[in-house]
Amino acid sequence: MNVNNFRLHLGGKEYVPLVIGGMGVNISTTELALSAERLGGIGHISDAEVMYVCDQLFGTTYTSEKRKKYANNINNADKASVQFDLEQLAEAQKRYVTHTISQKTGKGGIFLNCMEKLTMNNSAATLKVRLETAMDAGIDGITLAAGLNLRTLDLISGHERFRDVKLGIIISSVRALAIFMKRAMRLERLPDYIVVEGPLAGGHLGFGPDDWQNHDLRTIVAETIEFLKKENLNIPVIPAGGIFTGTDAVEYLQMGASAVQLATRFTIAKECGLPYEVKQQYISSSAEDVVVNTTSPTGYPMRMLRQSPTLQYGMKPNCEGLGYLLDNDGKCSYIDAYYRCLESRGSEGRFTVDGATCLCTGMARYDCWTCGSTVSRLKETTNRLADGSWQIPSAEEIFMDYLMSEDHTIRRPNL
Ligand SMILES: Cc1cc2nc3c(=O)[nH]c(=O)nc-3n(C[C@H](O)[C@H](O)[C@H](O)COP(=O)(O)O)c2cc1C
Repeated sequence: MNVNNFRLHLGGKEYVPLVIGGMGVNISTTELALSAERLGGIGHISDAEVMYVCDQLFGTTYTSEKRKKYANNINNADKASVQFDLEQLAEAQKRYVTHTISQKTGKGGIFLNCMEKLTMNNSAATLKVRLETAMDAGIDGITLAAGLNLRTLDLISGHERFRDVKLGIIISSVRALAIFMKRAMRLERLPDYIVVEGPLAGGHLGFGPDDWQNHDLRTIVAETIEFLKKENLNIPVIPAGGIFTGTDAVEYLQMGASAVQLATRFTIAKECGLPYEVKQQYISSSAEDVVVNTTSPTGYPMRMLRQSPTLQYGMKPNCEGLGYLLDNDGKCSYIDAYYRCLESRGSEGRFTVDGATCLCTGMARYDCWTCGSTVSRLKETTNRLADGSWQIPSAEEIFMDYLMSEDHTIRRPNL
């Protein structure tokens, strides 16, 4: 029995039941998402820091223009005035999504990972622009992430694709799902799929910093399936977090899941946005290198390698150019931590800000090495080369291994 014995049915379409999860900022690139789409699965792009991503990919100047516009505010801890231009945000989103969608060649899907926590100093307006523009640009599906997303459906209920685009939600507990479903039922717009993300995933975790160890994916998936059955709802459930072999995936498909969402194994793919050296760090990591900490200003715990450069340096907040995590009052807990630290030091220069990172800058620079808990097993999935470095597999090789593998075997890439 392998994953290829199963199919995901979503809105009248049939997919290979493998989903590559969204990884911002531009870690799950267009090319990575397209490789899943070409093979009949689903690939995500992420719209995290989309204006900055466009600057990198297409040579636009959104970030430097914004920085210039608010240059006078750079030494001010109050960032309330540092607003995103909604027209420019829409322009960037359209460019990025169109760039990806226009290259589709397969039977799979290209979905967008859209994080509510990117509040961008104007949460409702910016989220509405991001979602509606993605739909205008022809995205196949949107996965609502990083937040309870209680108001999100209302924001886009007037859009002509509201009922046709595939909409999913990431949850980490049945409680969060039940709250979301109440709102969805009121709008008569239930999610088309539910991603259940457990405590072993990469990125931010939907658990408390001290209680994530008390939870396990299998239990939450079983509870979710049970909840849906009780409510008489037939909605595909997609587990995520720690699914390392095709056989792990089959076990979830056999218990009633419709597909699985994967990320960590794809972080070392050629098509993944992380720099080559960072991929090497991921592969050579050991279990002791993996930490879950609360340095992200989002308030959610995050898993990362302890060697992450963001844990080694502090920096002046960069909100005039970036500012994607500013709340509706122009605040971010990193700004407070930075100025507290600066005050006690008395001067600028290089120093670390204890317990906090400027995540916008860290993610933009690929300096926050977030990973799933299985990262230290990546060496089982590839070959050590004569010079001591690790071979970088293609996304297709990883995807096909998940699809065809049996008995927990892992097929390493061809040398
Ligand atoms: C490097 C990395 C970055 C991630 N970034 C995001 C993100 O921006 N948004 C999100 O919803 N999930 C993010 N995730 C979570 C993945 O989409 C996925 O659900 C999860 O990591 C799957 O578990 P696995 O990594 O054990 O396969 C990230 C995961 C990794 C490894």
